[in-house]
Amino acid sequence: MQVDWNQTGHLLGLEGCSRNSLVSLLDDAAELLPIAGNRSSGTGEFSGRTVATLFFENSTRTKLSFTMAARRIGAEVLDLNASTSSTAKGESLLDTAMNIQAMGVDAMVMRCAASGAPRLISEHVSIPLINAGDGRHEHPTQGLLDALALREHFQKKTLDGLTIAIVGDIANSRVARSNAHGLTTLGANVVFVGPPSLVPDRMESLVVSGRDGSGTLRVEHDLDAVLHEIDAIMMLRVQFERHDGEVIDEHYTRQFGLDLNRAAQLREGVPVLHPGPINRGIEIDPEVADGPRSLILDQVTCGVAVRMAALQGLLRGSSS
Ligand code: NCD
Repeated sequence: MQVDWNQTGHLLGLEGCSRNSLVSLLDDAAELLPIAGNRSSGTGEFSGRTVATLFFENSTRTKLSFTMAARRIGAEVLDLNASTSSTAKGESLLDTAMNIQAMGVDAMVMRCAASGAPRLISEHVSIPLINAGDGRHEHPTQGLLDALALREHFQKKTLDGLTIAIVGDIANSRVARSNAHGLTTLGANVVFVGPPSLVPDRMESLVVSGRDGSGTLRVEHDLDAVLHEIDAIMMLRVQFERHDGEVIDEHYTRQFGLDLNRAAQLREGVPVLHPGPINRGIEIDPEVADGPRSLILDQVTCGVAVRMAALQGLLRGSSS
């Protein structure tokens, strides 16, 4: 079990992080929200510092949002173009990271396909490392931005007692894993919903329920049966690129897609989240994604604030 992100000097995952450390990061992010969404503002605190972004898997929101966050706190961004970098010649991720550190950057943000690689690299570098998604494992800043969007929506500091459904391709989702850890630590009861092939029953053991003030995790295979009891619903993209022959067709959309009919069965005020990118018409219909319940674009703004808070927390704590 890992210790708190702010004690390790890296942000690698939400598993094992204490409630206090999550609440305090979210408090910082909430304070930064007005700056995060404002075209011409910034704190400037880290002027002269450089944050390197190393994205070995595709990204729109996460990479640009880290870039925006770094700029908003005054730092410069050095971006590795993964497709033209020497990893394409066979250089290892660790060698790449060590070389970038040797150029004098102050922090690194990394996304890669190999689960666990950021942890391994963090054992060798002396600057803060943020995991921006490692394979099917964790995506901590996504979990935090989802928690912030929910906190803002419910106007609560924690998520105690809320029931939150996460629906879809859970087995292949690092977003689901980080959310399971983050949301339950903040007191929510999480329900993973999807077909047994994408949400195996054994996933219930991902979270040890009943820790200090923490919520529970359970698995369900019938979305219609849970719609009436939930306080928020998060739809996940079907991760086609991580599939190995599973067939996802209209049958999946009929059973697990969020269309207007299903959304109408949610209680009043229940928000709809999605981390993006959206497969419109597969896991969620455009009318719902763009409709009044949707927090999808609020999540994106929360992403900048959370990443500002994480970067500033780590940079303040590091010696460089
Ligand atoms: C997620 C990711 O890359 O894990 N997207 C994101 O970071 N906004 C989810 C996904 O790709 O489906």
